[in-house]
Amino acid sequence: MKRIVGKHAEYKKLESNILQISQEAKAAKKQFADVIDATVGMLHQEEGNVFKFQTVDEVLHNLSDSETYHYAPVRGTKDFTEGVFNWVFGENAEMIRKNFKYSVIPTTGGSGAISNSFYNFNDFNQKVLLPNYYWSPYQNFALEANVDLKTFLMYDENFKFNVTDFKEKALELAKEQNRLCVLLNDPSNNPTGLCMTKNDWHEVINTLNEVNRLDIPVILIHDIAYIDYQLKDNKYSREIFETYQNLDEDILAIVVFSGSKTFSLYGFRVGAQIGLSKSQDVVDNFVRVGDYSVRGRFSSVSQPGINIIGKIFTHNDFKKRFENEMNTARNLLKARANLFLEEAEKNNLEILPYCGGFFISVPTKNKNIFKDLVNDHVFVIPMQDIIRVAISSLSIQDIPNLVKKIKKHI
Ligand SMILES: Cc1ncc(COP(=O)(O)O)c(C=O)c1O
Repeated sequence: MKRIVGKHAEYKKLESNILQISQEAKAAKKQFADVIDATVGMLHQEEGNVFKFQTVDEVLHNLSDSETYHYAPVRGTKDFTEGVFNWVFGENAEMIRKNFKYSVIPTTGGSGAISNSFYNFNDFNQKVLLPNYYWSPYQNFALEANVDLKTFLMYDENFKFNVTDFKEKALELAKEQNRLCVLLNDPSNNPTGLCMTKNDWHEVINTLNEVNRLDIPVILIHDIAYIDYQLKDNKYSREIFETYQNLDEDILAIVVFSGSKTFSLYGFRVGAQIGLSKSQDVVDNFVRVGDYSVRGRFSSVSQPGINIIGKIFTHNDFKKRFENEMNTARNLLKARANLFLEEAEKNNLEILPYCGGFFISVPTKNKNIFKDLVNDHVFVIPMQDIIRVAISSLSIQDIPNLVKKIKKHI
């Protein structure tokens, strides 16, 4: 047979167990009433519909034709870019403005931001450093960009962020390839629910500085997809950015924002990459390659998506209403998480420390856990030695039974 596919694409086969298992769960649910589907990373109402923000819905349905149908400018609008910046950094926005040069580039979701960053800030065949539990599409973004992943251990023996292993692997990789590109998904990690402490972040930044002082380029990709679902008070989810102050001059930090998670605009494909550095030259480079890649890889971003977000951030009334609804969304998730944690304790089920986000993970030694749970009509995502339970799409009433079933097979 003729080789129809380019050589570099021969390895490609999308083996997304997440999408496939989700499909299987949906099919099973049609057949059996008692199926519990804990696979979906979208926030759902108790009755099973996606959690829609009324403010988003209202703004969407009042967009003009040009706000809906026209091509969006590659750089988005000021309402969008400044709005995202202020939302993401919250109380630290002024401090970041004072200490850093920055630029906000709209992307097709957080995914577009990560994918472009992998592509532009590595040489081919280099590796991005990330923890050993991670959202599996990172692998796709990496291979598509001709780069690979290298992991460090996320936890130490006390189930705290493993600063020592991070440091060791970061220095090792940086010296090996003369570049360090680190990806951290924090707070409210997918899949584990981990929130790094401010001190963890200080340690990470000390290490990045140490590498930078070896005259090695350093890039931090900070994926904050679930920042609005950290279950502490909102200001605490933003306090980690205080540690950014210590970043050395020519380090580039790319903060990845997802419109999918913050606004439930999953299907709109809207997000942003915020490039920050104390060096204007570094930010100029970020803008130069970022703009090019938006055009070269997906042309521009969803016009309605950009306008909905821009309007909500710039109209006080919309913003206040949206913030109230965001509290409701967080409380919905909190009620599920609290019940899950209570039931886990009652049933003596050990889980990974959870502080926010759409997922709770449970360590397991059972190699057949996925099949055993499916036989019991429960669908979760198995990953290495854990199972990932999406509390975002569970209903409260299913939780006690779900925990018992997990305990039975774990
Ligand atoms: C950890 C993480 N990062 C980023 C994203 C990006 O999502 P999107 O491309 O829809 O913004 C997701 C979505 O599931 C995620 O779980």
